[in-house]
Amino acid sequence: MRHFISVADLTPEEIQNILDRSLEWKKEFKEKGENEPILKGKTLGMLFQKPSLRTRVSFELAMVQLGGYAFYLSPNEVKLGQRESVADVARVLSGYVDVIMARVFAHRHILELAKFSSAPVINGLSDFNHPCQAIADFFTIQENKGALKGLKLAFVGDGNNVATSLLFTATKLGTDFAIATPEGYELDPAVVRLAQEFARESGSKIVETHDPYEAVDGADVIYTDVWTSMGQEEETEKRLRVFPPYQVNQKLVEAAKEDVIVMHCLPAHRGQEITDEVADGPHSVLFTQAENRMHAQKGILAWSLEAI
Ligand code: CP
Ligand code: NVA
Repeated sequence: MRHFISVADLTPEEIQNILDRSLEWKKEFKEKGENEPILKGKTLGMLFQKPSLRTRVSFELAMVQLGGYAFYLSPNEVKLGQRESVADVARVLSGYVDVIMARVFAHRHILELAKFSSAPVINGLSDFNHPCQAIADFFTIQENKGALKGLKLAFVGDGNNVATSLLFTATKLGTDFAIATPEGYELDPAVVRLAQEFARESGSKIVETHDPYEAVDGADVIYTDVWTSMGQEEETEKRLRVFPPYQVNQKLVEAAKEDVIVMHCLPAHRGQEITDEVADGPHSVLFTQAENRMHAQKGILAWSLEAI
């Protein structure tokens, strides 16, 4: 079964196919105002333990635009693992739908859903990774830069779930990846070791540093995310003291390539990890990136449902 749990589980060819098909669906939708309904009659159940704007709306509309149907289950409705065990939720929900998308706190809950589900499970963000985001991001980079191999992506901030999925995708596709984090907020060493294996195949270079200027040197893409992710709220004050040197501001952007694009998965904490000047400036692709989530979800859904 094609569970979409981590980009690390896909081959470079599968990832590239998802990106290429998503781009075609975006073009088709822009030109004709609709897509061919290749998922007609298919249903998507969306299970959320955390808030969402982009993931919820983009998945729902992606499914509708490909001819399918999607519905949302709020954190309070299902109470995953509280009202009912994760295994039982998986068994029940997969009896109704063709594909499940879930956003959870603990990554093990995604793995458990997948284990007990009779339908493919798509990871809509966990504390470990955010693979749907990375697919939309590399789609956006390909759309802007025309290629992925040999480009350099610099991630500045927390070595978190978003950074993890970007690293996996970059090293699968031959994009160089540099990350600058404060001490104590690095990527999980096991994640980096796995990515190094992918990099040996693809030729990507990986740089880990504590210096944001070293990371963005020669970068084609600068990427940042919130300093405090959902579920870490009790660490907010501590993080606000540690992270300010990692702000993506005009000075940092000027230290990268002249045609660098700036990305952020959103929601942004403006004035913290990114300034208004950069978020709304000429290098920013933030809102195209958010829009592209909708088309990238089409690629992910079609892959999971074996329609591509
Ligand atoms: N980037 C992202 O996943 O946004 P939401 O939390 O709004 O879904
Ligand atoms: N790292 C952030 C991403 C939100 C889309 C979080 O997990 O809250």
